[in-house]
Amino acid sequence: MSRIAVLTSGGDAPGMNAAVRAVVRRGLSRGCHVFGIQRGYAGLFNGQAFIDFNLGSVAGIIHRGGTVLLTARAEEMYKPEGQDRAAERLKAEGINGLVVVGGEGSFRGARALEERGVKTVCVPGTIDNDINGTDASIGFDTAVNTILDAVNRLRDTATSHERVFILEVMGRHTGHLALAAGLAGGAESILVPEIRWNLDDVCRRLLQGIERQKTHSIIVVAEGAADVFEINKEIRRKINVETRVTVLGHIQRGGSPSAVDRLLGSRMGAAAVDLLMEGKSNLFTALKGEQVEAVPLTECLSKDKPFPESLYELTLDLAR
Ligand code: F6P
Repeated sequence: MSRIAVLTSGGDAPGMNAAVRAVVRRGLSRGCHVFGIQRGYAGLFNGQAFIDFNLGSVAGIIHRGGTVLLTARAEEMYKPEGQDRAAERLKAEGINGLVVVGGEGSFRGARALEERGVKTVCVPGTIDNDINGTDASIGFDTAVNTILDAVNRLRDTATSHERVFILEVMGRHTGHLALAAGLAGGAESILVPEIRWNLDDVCRRLLQGIERQKTHSIIVVAEGAADVFEINKEIRRKINVETRVTVLGHIQRGGSPSAVDRLLGSRMGAAAVDLLMEGKSNLFTALKGEQVEAVPLTECLSKDKPFPESLYELTLDLAR
């Protein structure tokens, strides 16, 4: 395994740079040439030269959010002929091992390359944490803390004005971010796509709080669960409370990665190189408890990550 390449793909996530840095330095320490492919899979179609990394190439990036390799979504990777071209480009460059840092969509591209003879190992990097088979993906911890900071700030003004704040958070079609940040932030209600909810229950919880002189609340809504502006309108139609809406948006994708994400990125990036050096591929690095393990790509592509319903039920008791 002498020529390894690394790319970051899909939505960027804090900690991706730690993973890229680990791939480069672990690879160099194992006697490999390590190349960076810019703009995700698009870098395989745009004729751009790969970056020939050295130790210094990844200096001073572990604390930076985003990805120094840039990322982009490449439509060509959704079609077999595009996947053929991508594999041919990698082979033409003599790449005999590829590390893909990204989310579930990026893993699908990696599987297509593996099917075409490119030895590939993936590293889960998405703030959504929606990759089945790993306890956490890179970026999740930092994004939860970013949302938590927002919840804390909103709680100050919600308390002062005795208002109900409705906060939309990311997560695509899942509620992992909303649940973790909502529970940690003491949100009075958390709406996620995975759990059926109705607004009468939400309003009843708000009124019960008001009866106990709790005149402010925070409702965390996963973007895939509902339209927060509709929720806002309906609550004001049903009960007499003052409300405001905050959509956190792409703030959740930025920021200096937390220690957790820097450690996760470093461990998974190095583990991906080790697997390739052992001649293993068609895998992704997964956090299982305290351990980083190798899991077949099919594991994450065949089913959705289970939603922790017991943790959700805990929020119903704790945030009263
Ligand atoms: O997958 C990460 C994510 O931030 C999702 O939570 C969000 O829905 C999506 O990316 C936004 O995509 P874009 O950055 O292309 O607007």
